[in-house]
Amino acid sequence: MPETAIKPFRSHIFVCVNQRDGKPACEDHGAKAALARAKEAMKALPFAKRDGVRLSQSGCLGQCEHGPVAVVYPSGKWISYASADELTRFVLEACEAEE
Ligand code: FES
Repeated sequence: MPETAIKPFRSHIFVCVNQRDGKPACEDHGAKAALARAKEAMKALPFAKRDGVRLSQSGCLGQCEHGPVAVVYPSGKWISYASADELTRFVLEACEAEE
């Protein structure tokens, strides 16, 4: 396989925004709105703080019974959040972390 010049992210946060027909899912708890709030808070940080940190919406992360959930790599830290503020704190902590 050829070597690529793709630079890895310092941290990559995935926020599940999945919906499932008739089954519990993260979007049942307002995951898209919480993600939008967290993105705005991240954008307000000085560039140096968020440089190398990627915040992505994702499909099902396989933790539906704990939803709404998010995970950050490479640390592998998960959160089952109760509010948009809690998700925002998780995202901002990931920006602060030295990975
Ligand atoms: S629907 Fe979010 S983890 Fe499955």
